[in-house]
Amino acid sequence: MAFGVIKNVRKVFQLEEIGWSALEPIVALDDASFRFEEGELVALLGPSGCGKTTLLRIIGGLIAKTAGSVAIDGREVTKPMGDYGFVFQTPSLMPWRNVLDNVLFPMEILRKNDAAARRHAHELLELVGLSGFLSARPHQLSGGMQQRVALCRALVHRPRLLLMDEPFGALDELTRMDMNDLLLRIRHETKASVLFVTHSISEAVYLSDKVVVFSKRPARVVKEITIPLSYPRSQNVRFTTAFTTAERIASEALGVVAPAAEEASAQ
Ligand SMILES: Nc1ncnc2c1ncn2[C@@H]1O[C@H](COP(=O)(O)OP(=O)(O)OP(=O)(O)O)[C@@H](O)[C@H]1O
Ligand SMILES: [Mg+2]
Repeated sequence: MAFGVIKNVRKVFQLEEIGWSALEPIVALDDASFRFEEGELVALLGPSGCGKTTLLRIIGGLIAKTAGSVAIDGREVTKPMGDYGFVFQTPSLMPWRNVLDNVLFPMEILRKNDAAARRHAHELLELVGLSGFLSARPHQLSGGMQQRVALCRALVHRPRLLLMDEPFGALDELTRMDMNDLLLRIRHETKASVLFVTHSISEAVYLSDKVVVFSKRPARVVKEITIPLSYPRSQNVRFTTAFTTAERIASEALGVVAPAAEEASAQ
């Protein structure tokens, strides 16, 4: 049995419930299924609005599904799990807390904010290059630095599964590449399984063992692409044939380019 089994997940938002009775229900997910193994980094790639965030929130137990099942390590997910970590598109740090106390927040909730937790928080902040900013407030940091703090906060309780929703989408391209390399380093050290939502084709290919491509809403899985590149990876890999071929397959699955065979016959 795979570590993560997402099976026939469907999600319908009933807008009437929040007062928009004139509107049709929104089918965000229709029969979404895929599996992943423990320790894998899987990119969930799809067009804007297709239902990726909805699926990630369902996998994390943050919202309920309408139908289907989500099992992680053999357990059906029905509520938020203490051994998952979340990183959202915006860092959402607490402005009144300093960097170290933001990272330690989950340990306070779990009532495990002891000396070992503080040591681990220090280690993580060192790993992401922020040990000189322990007592800084979020507004004194750049967007990339804030997202690194959010990453440490997601990792401080040593999650088995890290759920990341376009965490680097708001960053400039160079910072994003640095963050991609940092994530791969952290993943190597923690051995956590990672589900990473993105709509960047190249980011999906660069990071992952496997790319799961979703259709437009309602999201269904249209293709799973195993990335034939070994780790550790460096930015040079972007210029290899294996990389560009994977990008092409993902682009075809998204409908961004015509399949190579059709293109050849049209010429
Ligand atoms: N709480 C909600 N209530 C009603 N509709 C919702 C809710 N959350 C999401 N939706 C709808 O579900 C659909 C999928 O939204 P979702 O945020 O999952 O897309 P996404 O793939 O993450 O998009 P993006 O790439 O832009 O972040 C959208 O049509 C959205 O309007
Ligand atoms: Mg989203």
